[in-house]
Amino acid sequence: MQNLQPFHTFHIHANAREIIEAHSIEQLQQAWAHSKAENLPALFLGQGSNMLFLDDFNGVVILNRLMGITHQQDSDFHYLHVNGGENWHELVEWSINNGIYGLENLALIPGCAGSAPIQNIGAYGVEFKDVCDYVDVLNLNTNETFRLDTKQCEFGYRESIFKHRYQQGYMITAIGLKLTKNWQPILKYGSLVEFDPKTVTAKQIFDEVCHIRQSKLPNPNEFGNAGSFFKNPVVSSEHFEEIKKHHENLPHFPQADGAVKLAAGWLIDQCNLKGFQIGGAAVHEKQALVLINKSGATGQDVVKLAHHVRQTVAEKFGVYLQPEVRFIGTTGEVNSEQTIDRKSGSAGMPRPI
Ligand code: FAD
Ligand code: EPU
Repeated sequence: MQNLQPFHTFHIHANAREIIEAHSIEQLQQAWAHSKAENLPALFLGQGSNMLFLDDFNGVVILNRLMGITHQQDSDFHYLHVNGGENWHELVEWSINNGIYGLENLALIPGCAGSAPIQNIGAYGVEFKDVCDYVDVLNLNTNETFRLDTKQCEFGYRESIFKHRYQQGYMITAIGLKLTKNWQPILKYGSLVEFDPKTVTAKQIFDEVCHIRQSKLPNPNEFGNAGSFFKNPVVSSEHFEEIKKHHENLPHFPQADGAVKLAAGWLIDQCNLKGFQIGGAAVHEKQALVLINKSGATGQDVVKLAHHVRQTVAEKFGVYLQPEVRFIGTTGEVNSEQTIDRKSGSAGMPRPI
């Protein structure tokens, strides 16, 4: 068994049967073939910043370490071809230092470039889909590589085709980004609205986003975490009006289809759960949507805490929060909502999905 703790940001103690770093497509294929030959499940990992290990993983973890960035341009656009193992934040920083703008709102999001399409990472008014040109995918069962354009990726809020049709056995090997030379700042979220759109620079936005994030999100090296534990829930306009009757200042974001997105962190905060702790897991004091490994938390501690948060919010607001974080059991990913509702972690865990 090999220790997984350094390979995921919750830093929960868990082992894997084997951990293999793949620096080339050939190494990826070999690692996959090895897992098949040994009849072991395989799990792809970038930087493990959206993962909760419930237990030891009895299989082969394959780390995407495909590196390299290629830059091309024409009169209107910059085109970046980025291999999947590149660090997302370093890519953002590199682009800004090279006069290529458009990624600044997505600064300081942990993880690999190849993982960015999977949940369509988003922050401060921008999502991956807004800058995506294409995603290159390797089907490890056939060794065929194919390219999906943005539309084919079926991006949504924390959603894409990579959570569904192209999940098991499909490795994202590279992404293509298309960034306009006619750069316009995106200043619609939080304190960014205070900038003057006529004079603000991409570097100022980058610095401000880093500053806000550092002030409220825990550094995983201090307290292990996986960012927002739950997604922001989308409710019907009727449900929203019902909650609003009792909570005038409820933050909300109307959606195109008439539904309303609520702030899960605000809902949890209203239940006075900041700092609430079960075992070694706690609700972060500065951002209630983040669950942290306060000291030596187990996967079960986090599941029990998530259960308490989900139940308490549901009792007060009638809203069942859905995890954003991916739950990994002994033989692979499991259904996170079912796991939380059973509360017991690995004992009686749902079958792998
Ligand atoms: P991992 O956690 O390693 O993997 C995530 C999933 O993708 C797993 O199911 C894995 O099996 C699969 N996978 C990984 N690589 C590949 C590949 N190459 N091909 C196919 N499947 C693969 N997210 C946001 O959207 N916005 C934020 O603002 C944000 N802030 C965060 C802040 C903190 C402090 C933390 C810890 C996390 C935050 N996140 C945020 C979540 C996380 O950063 C993103 O989900 C990120 O894209 C995960 O990248 P990763 O490389 O760590 O993926
Ligand atoms: N709020 C509270 N109390 C809290 C936390 C939040 O009242 O403890 C309120 C805030 O005051 C604000 C609202 O809730 O009015 C939203 O909070 P915030 O701006 O911090 O953003 P969020 O909705 O909690 C989302 C993403 C983050 C992303 C930020 C910035 C999700 C699930 N989370 O968080 O993404 O960085 O917006 O765009 O959509 C992640 O996905 O891991 C992640 C960190």
